[in-house]
Amino acid sequence: MTTSSSVSLPLIVVIGGGTGMGRDIAHDQVTLGRDVLIVGRRAESLKEVARSSSAPQRVFTVVADASTADGAAAISDAVGHRRVQGIVAAAGGQGGFKQPGQAPEDLDDAWSTALRVNLFTAVLPVETLLPKMLDNEGRVVLIGSTAGIEGAGGPYATAKAALAGYGRELARRVGERGITSNTIAPGFVDNTEFFESGGFGDSSTMTDAAAARTLIGRVGRPRDVTASVRWLLSKDGGWITGQVIAVDGGTVMVQ
Ligand SMILES: NC(=O)c1ccc[n+]([C@@H]2O[C@H](COP(=O)([O-])OP(=O)(O)OC[C@H]3O[C@@H](n4cnc5c(N)ncnc54)[C@H](OP(=O)(O)O)[C@@H]3O)[C@@H](O)[C@H]2O)c1
Repeated sequence: MTTSSSVSLPLIVVIGGGTGMGRDIAHDQVTLGRDVLIVGRRAESLKEVARSSSAPQRVFTVVADASTADGAAAISDAVGHRRVQGIVAAAGGQGGFKQPGQAPEDLDDAWSTALRVNLFTAVLPVETLLPKMLDNEGRVVLIGSTAGIEGAGGPYATAKAALAGYGRELARRVGERGITSNTIAPGFVDNTEFFESGGFGDSSTMTDAAAARTLIGRVGRPRDVTASVRWLLSKDGGWITGQVIAVDGGTVMVQ
């Protein structure tokens, strides 16, 4: 961890907290007076989140690849003896968004990447941190995608559907401890790094098309997702568990 605090508050752990939605969620939790541990593979983006936060001393960082056993162990080491109040699994990406070629090695590569980036980055840290989670107040929020609901987007969509399935399985297992587990499924959210790689083409055309699919007439901003995560992490969110909640301007309707 890069900084230290004298008060040992329970932590909110944000996996993928260096950019996009995770960054905004981390900043928001700090404004609520929480200590936040942010995880990512790039030290510089994590440092920037700490620097630009309203209370940098509340932001702790760990550089780790959350999709690996070593990364999960590093996250647990960074938590140390502190308790964990909430985990937000926001790491992910479009690895595997496109249909891979039919060659077995292409399939293996695309599917392994999609599952590692979008499923393992949640499962490995969450399972490793479960013993450190607070009973009764513990909260797990997974950032899925409407792609996982609609089945749109190659292996990425399947990985996000699997993530939502994991969220429900986890909810059943940890309910007796008073811990909740939910999945937020965002639609198209601007101001993230999500669309920067992967050959999506002209982003303004994509943004216009995504906005047209909403009922509200605009794409999302990280803040739209943060507001929902804040609610699920709060004490008042304690009777919501095992759910998949679309935050997407009405693009898909779940039930
Ligand atoms: N933007 C959208 O329209 C949209 C829509 C639906 C769902 N989502 C989902 O929302 C979540 C947040 O994405 P975003 O849109 O905010 O994009 P983003 O800015 O690219 O954020 C993703 C973050 O995950 C981190 N990350 C990726 N792989 C990691 C790993 N193996 N270990 C640790 N950290 C890792 C990245 O940092 P490093 O590269 O430094 O590790 C990055 O900070 C993702 O799960 C994404 O699939 C996005």
